[in-house]
Amino acid sequence: MAQIAVLDQETIDQIAAGEVVERPASVVKELVENAIDADSTAVTVEVKQGGITFIRITDNGCGIGKEQLSLAFLRHATSKLKKMQDLWAIGSLGFRGEALSSIAAVAQVEMITKQREDLTGVRYCIDGGREQSCDEVGAPDGTTILVRNLFYNTPARAKFLKTPATEGNYITGYMEQLALSHPQISFKYILNGQLRFQTAGNGKLKEIIYQIYGRDITEELVEIGCRKEGMDIHGYIGKPVVSRGNRNFENYYVNGRYVKDRILMKAIEESYRGFLMQHQYPFTCLFLELDGGKVDVNVHPSKMEVRFSDQENIYQSVKQVLTDALRGAVLVPKVQLEKESKSARSKPSEAQMPEPFEEKRREEYLHRLENESKKQEASNTAGETKPTFSAFRENTENYHIKKPVPQQQSSNDGGKVQQISLFDADEHFPFAGKDRAAYRIIGQLFDTYWLIECGDELYIIDQHAAHEKVLYEQMIKSHKRREIFSQMVSPPIVIQPSMQERQLLETHIELFAEYGFEVEEFGLDAYCIRSVPHNLYGIATDRLFMELLSECSGSLEKNDSRELIGEKIATMACKAAVKGNNRMSVPEMQRLIDELLTLDNPYQCPHGRPTIIKMSKTELEKKFRRIV
Ligand SMILES: Nc1ncnc2c1ncn2[C@@H]1O[C@H](COP(=O)(O)OP(=O)(O)O)[C@@H](O)[C@H]1O
Ligand SMILES: [Mg+2]
Repeated sequence: MAQIAVLDQETIDQIAAGEVVERPASVVKELVENAIDADSTAVTVEVKQGGITFIRITDNGCGIGKEQLSLAFLRHATSKLKKMQDLWAIGSLGFRGEALSSIAAVAQVEMITKQREDLTGVRYCIDGGREQSCDEVGAPDGTTILVRNLFYNTPARAKFLKTPATEGNYITGYMEQLALSHPQISFKYILNGQLRFQTAGNGKLKEIIYQIYGRDITEELVEIGCRKEGMDIHGYIGKPVVSRGNRNFENYYVNGRYVKDRILMKAIEESYRGFLMQHQYPFTCLFLELDGGKVDVNVHPSKMEVRFSDQENIYQSVKQVLTDALRGAVLVPKVQLEKESKSARSKPSEAQMPEPFEEKRREEYLHRLENESKKQEASNTAGETKPTFSAFRENTENYHIKKPVPQQQSSNDGGKVQQISLFDADEHFPFAGKDRAAYRIIGQLFDTYWLIECGDELYIIDQHAAHEKVLYEQMIKSHKRREIFSQMVSPPIVIQPSMQERQLLETHIELFAEYGFEVEEFGLDAYCIRSVPHNLYGIATDRLFMELLSECSGSLEKNDSRELIGEKIATMACKAAVKGNNRMSVPEMQRLIDELLTLDNPYQCPHGRPTIIKMSKTELEKKFRRIV
């Protein structure tokens, strides 16, 4: 057996670097976080070759003093923590003192930095963990760090790098998150000599969302802003129309830190349940600010994970706030006849050369913004303008984004009260106040859709989806008011559930009874259903009931099982809905509309499909070329 010996510092650093520096994107993330912690107001990031050969980050922050500089590159050297107790209330993004030493261990690094109070700055070079030089130089306030040839001395790691294009995409992803999470800081991101985006640093989150995600999403946002249980929750969430097939658009930040967290993900997705179809995920850009003592960020060296001391409370609060916001928002999707010529993601067109330092950035930016809007006014062209910053400005002035109106739910609130609270403070929902004179039912189309004229909009309602929604909500409401009546079935329905399903049935037998299902043991592991809710008479067959059981036992978690079972039972009620391809009379439709409009969320059927869509007169006129 070989001799045991403590590894030398270089090897220790290289091994440890593996945890912090996985790829160029982690270098960018760590260095930008350092710039943010240094109180910078402007940060420029330049990347070439996917960051493998060149990363340069320039900030206008506090800088590092000459005597401190080599210290900063030592492992576990940090100015952000003094003692162990500080770990329990971390206010900065960094705190482990690992980034600079890890990066320097696996790349060639040069740093130029100057503190405001010093006359001169310092240039410090370190390659593969070995100090090369440390000289006094003239420099502006702030820090520039240049990282070249990542993993040049660890070929094994270099092999795991993907193509420069892919690595570049990872960096772009992080840059977007860093810009979104800090609207007060002006970020400039240049990839392979091209300006990818630049934010104003004026604190306007919506402008950043516009730059990164484009107009389609920005036009369909609901603003969130409230305090709950000692926690501040704010930001924007997307209306269901801008959902996606994966979770990439679920952004959330805890105390300014972009994280991935199961609890928050679940709270977000739960609040959209019923608003989105299965396997669709929302857009969110949500900020949670809470006491640093209530969240542990020291979970993993990448600092992307957090642990909350009171998970349940966080889960419930976030879910409640988002659900209220969605219920309070108007969610009718707009039909677009023609896709306008616009890119999904707006990219500033002109490529700008990197500027060496950042002092004047904000003034320049504002100046340019002003100039652009002047030009815009001068040319004053009709029709579509390119999504420049000034165009966005004009757009935003016309937004009437509604603050969420929390719905007050009490068990005896009549439908009317809810309807008023839904439409009152709202960006003008046309069927407001249930005033039938305000809209005109034109008729039924393809025996399935109803056309309704209201003001300058044509609304199209899917009768099946609408009816499903009404039946579903009626069932939930009747349960709340204890108004579900059961009806005997004869002969009783006999079912043979699995062991897990039997357990579920036993645990919740009372709950099933509340919903009108009288279930009894029938010997030999069988059960019989003696009565069913009156509105499900003839619908609730043995097959359907078994489906319900297996669905429930598949997706139950103890916290919300009551609610979930209720929802599943109510979904059964949808089976009674009038189908498409069915004649309905105008009075029948009128009743359905009236019912629909009393609901908190009339816009989606219980399975998340839209019930109403709309098309504006202008869009029709455009289609007929009456206007251009
Ligand atoms: N851009 C910067 N501006 C000012 N100080 C910096 C900058 N980058 C790093 N530092 C200093 O170097 C120290 C070490 O940085 P780092 O290794 O990333 O550890 P951490 O951020 O966890 O403290 C920081 O605590 C900070 O004092
Ligand atoms: Mg750091």
